[in-house]
Amino acid sequence: MPGENPFRYGDVVSGTQFTDRREEIAALRADVESGQNVVVIAPRRTGKSSLMRACVEELRDAGVLVAECDLFAAPDKGRLVEQLTTALYRGLLSPFERAGRRSLDFLRRMPVAPVATVDPADGSLSFTMPTTLRRGDVDVTLDRLLRLPAEVAEERGRRVALVLDEFQEVTRIDRDLPRVMRAAFQQQPEVAHVYLGSQRHLLRRLFTERNEPLFRSAKVMELGPIPAADFGPFIAERFAATGRSIAPGAVERLLQITAGQPYDTQELARFLWAISAERAATPEMVDEAFEHAVMAESARCATIWEGLSPYQRLVLLAVAAESGRIYSEEYRHRHRLGPPARVQKAVAALADRDLVEGAARPGFTVPDPFLRAWLSGRVRTPPAPVSSG
Ligand SMILES: Nc1ncnc2c1ncn2[C@@H]1O[C@H](COP(=O)(O)OP(=O)(O)OP(=O)(O)O)[C@@H](O)[C@H]1O
Ligand SMILES: [Mg+2]
Repeated sequence: MPGENPFRYGDVVSGTQFTDRREEIAALRADVESGQNVVVIAPRRTGKSSLMRACVEELRDAGVLVAECDLFAAPDKGRLVEQLTTALYRGLLSPFERAGRRSLDFLRRMPVAPVATVDPADGSLSFTMPTTLRRGDVDVTLDRLLRLPAEVAEERGRRVALVLDEFQEVTRIDRDLPRVMRAAFQQQPEVAHVYLGSQRHLLRRLFTERNEPLFRSAKVMELGPIPAADFGPFIAERFAATGRSIAPGAVERLLQITAGQPYDTQELARFLWAISAERAATPEMVDEAFEHAVMAESARCATIWEGLSPYQRLVLLAVAAESGRIYSEEYRHRHRLGPPARVQKAVAALADRDLVEGAARPGFTVPDPFLRAWLSGRVRTPPAPVSSG
């Protein structure tokens, strides 16, 4: 619609709000179609769920049955059972089948009959478990659900995919869950399991360390930013589609600040579009929009800040002010950080939350441009994330 801001950030995006990721979609699709398990790892807000949405559309068009479950919606095993029941019901049965006999078949397979609730808005069903459910029932039902996709794949002769988003939550739901999943999933060659999640260290550990139950059970795919060659034209085209324009230098400046991080880019572009009106957006206007964006992000930054120990704050401030080889003698001295072992421990905790990234060489950075600016209190000129090599 003309007059409506064409940039969106927050939820999953699709259609005209989605750009690029062609190679990732093709790779992910080929893996799923061949029954290969994949884990997509990237910091928050990189576009994992949006990528998966685009891929799922293609997969469904190609006849693959896809069930999607969000682990954030499952604080414990009981809720996971409910989420999975709903996900499998929606993903493995077509709308036509849901109205017919297969629907009953599906429910009959469950060791404990779930309670169905109809959403009056669209008639869709979701499931809850009876409140009398005992602990043992939950385990048995969960195991049943985890094995169901393979049965459906075999009976119907269809490829099936089970997508588990926010998978970094898995051990918080139940410490034993990865083992339970491994046991159920390893006998399912016709089912592709796709795991998506942030907290890269934790996720990588789950899939790449020998003593972990999910060790080598999925191919690791790391998702990065969107290249300027794709994001630049997308931004210009979105401006043009709403009867506005943006100078090439402004596109460049915007992507220099966000480094092509999808969420950050859409957010900054949204603020820029809002102040551009009839004038073509300029690099100066990008800096002004950035100030607005940092203000809008300040509550989130404050929440992050509150969650850190005083020493972690010190290290985060140092890295935001000066990225680089933070374990070096001069660096630690300059920022009064104390012994390297202490710095290392704080960096590990910050990296676990994706607040800093990098390695001892060439160095560490704070990748989030809004957080960097918020920390420095210098909103005008956001320092670029340089790492001294
Ligand atoms: N391919 C894309 N093209 C344009 N913008 C995108 C794309 N992917 C993501 N974005 C932007 O990033 C935002 C976050 O995307 P998404 O929710 O898919 O990320 P995520 O990695 O799943 O995040 P989280 O870890 O918080 O679940 C979207 O709202 C959108 O603004
Ligand atoms: Mg997501």
